[in-house]
Amino acid sequence: MRKKVIAGNWKMNKLPNETIDFIDRLIPKIKDTENEVVLCVPYTDLFYAILTAQNTNIKIGAQNMHFEEKGAYTGEVSGQMLKAINVDYVIIGHSERRQYFGETDETVNKKVKSAFANGLKPIVCVGESLEQRENGEEKEIVTSQTRLALNGLNNEQVQNVIIAYEPIWAIGTGKTATSEDANNMCKIIRAEIEKIYGQNIAQRVIIQYGGSVKPQNAKELFETSDIDGALIGGASLKVEDFEQIVNYNK
Ligand code: 13P
Repeated sequence: MRKKVIAGNWKMNKLPNETIDFIDRLIPKIKDTENEVVLCVPYTDLFYAILTAQNTNIKIGAQNMHFEEKGAYTGEVSGQMLKAINVDYVIIGHSERRQYFGETDETVNKKVKSAFANGLKPIVCVGESLEQRENGEEKEIVTSQTRLALNGLNNEQVQNVIIAYEPIWAIGTGKTATSEDANNMCKIIRAEIEKIYGQNIAQRVIIQYGGSVKPQNAKELFETSDIDGALIGGASLKVEDFEQIVNYNK
């Protein structure tokens, strides 16, 4: 049985004092959950988040990293730097980074390898645009993004990757994929992993859904066969909403 991983992606939101307050309020509300709880916060909040969440069941993640360890890359942050302050997770290849910051399947793959090399758990985002969906290309897009992201990883690494299926048309729009559709896409991603790495590994990979997940739709999404949690934007900014999603099975 795969664990549910419920991860918040705060994007470019919240200051350190808001981060500390959020986590302080979240701790008692989710302390008994069996689900994995992750908050992916801005770089400037990481250290505060890690200190506040110390000795709790909340894990902290970054939203991006560079694939090199160090060097002349002004403004970038490496996996080694994240690990040094006890970051556990890192989002890689979010559609906003692919869309606005030139992230490609190749840089995603390099970053995934570097994340593992530094002991970080990558949450790799895949997903089609509205245009690609309207052209019926969604399966091809997500299977190719998945294949390329995992290229060259060993079996141990592949089974520890988290894939987040986030259809771009559902992000921040209030339009959620139906649970059936989202589950089908997650199944397609799992089948692609199975084709390359075998059934044992494919069955262990956590595949999340992301795109307008809220307290009202979380349970239905999470009770499907292949959705193992969520990557949540807007609803992860409010303690009350995020807590309800984490506690969907209470
Ligand atoms: P929303 O939950 O705001 O739609 O954002 C989804 C997302 O992009 C999470 O990474």
